[in-house]
Amino acid sequence: MIKTLEWTDGGVRFIDQTKLPTEETYVTCVTYEEVANAIRTMIVRGAPAIGVAAAMGVALGVRDSQAANHAALKRDFNHICDVLAATRPTAVNLFWAIRRMRTKFEQVSSQPIAQIKQDLITEARRMMLEDIAANEAMGKHGAVLLPASGGILTHCNAGALATCGYGTALGVIRAAVESGKKLHVFADETRPFLQGSRLTAWELMKDDIPTTLIADNMAGAMMRQGKIDAVVVGADRIAANGDVANKIGTYTVAVLAKEHGIPFYVAAPFSTIDLDTPDGSQIPIEQRSPEEVTHLAGKQIAPDGVRVENPAFDVTPHGYVTAIITERGVARAPYAESLRELAGVKVTA
Ligand code: MRU
Repeated sequence: MIKTLEWTDGGVRFIDQTKLPTEETYVTCVTYEEVANAIRTMIVRGAPAIGVAAAMGVALGVRDSQAANHAALKRDFNHICDVLAATRPTAVNLFWAIRRMRTKFEQVSSQPIAQIKQDLITEARRMMLEDIAANEAMGKHGAVLLPASGGILTHCNAGALATCGYGTALGVIRAAVESGKKLHVFADETRPFLQGSRLTAWELMKDDIPTTLIADNMAGAMMRQGKIDAVVVGADRIAANGDVANKIGTYTVAVLAKEHGIPFYVAAPFSTIDLDTPDGSQIPIEQRSPEEVTHLAGKQIAPDGVRVENPAFDVTPHGYVTAIITERGVARAPYAESLRELAGVKVTA
């Protein structure tokens, strides 16, 4: 399995996703600031991976804190959390992970400082293992939804590289292939950052899963030609009503899928579901640098000074979503009820 991220005694080690697919290199972040920078610059990206990376960043920062007493440690802890929380705004897993580290910190705050440090490292490493287990469970729940054979379209990278291993959308596809289904994946290249061509194609080819790369604007034609039997994507945040924030372009794919009568599945762990956000209009959308649009692999492809929009994510309204696949089972409309039921929240009529 690809090691997207890993805790080591020397720091947090990441496969450098900005260098793939041409170079498989690893970077070790030795401070929490370096972890924050790795998240911001997308050395590590993908909602679940961002969350666990942040948790490891918190553990690293606290481990290396020079605080001489508990009050100073708490001040350091809060500052570290603030720095990591300010990296990327859309993936709710980031805030979920920091909240979980905060809860652990509170639970162990009366222990000796050395013990607190150790407990935070253990918690971050546990989150990594839980993420892989969640993806495998999601795979089992989702695999049965896919056809015995056919074409599956995916957008961005919601694979092992976007998680701690196995993947969400690609985990569902992997599990289906492992169960004997004869699937062929169509990977949208995913402009402007090209997670589909650089990462999804690389990851699937490594696993010998048949893959065809297409430019984003080819998805409609592929659907019309009958080459796509289902769409599976990941999510950065799912609101309480089932609206889904995911990589820019996902909404377009969802609309096309509906027009062609193709099921549109979203695979995401519970750490991506944000019951505190009522609907998609409340989800903050990250705006990224114009250079991602005006330049391709370092080469300028647009006139100097052109006005650019670069929202990194869009929101797919829940009406386009056939089902949401989680590690706890499959949610279907009405999502306001099914998501709360899976979350274990009492649903009142
Ligand atoms: O900007 P990115 O590469 O972090 O965006 C990633 C996505 O949009 C993924 O589809 C999403 O995080 C789900 S990953 C399992």
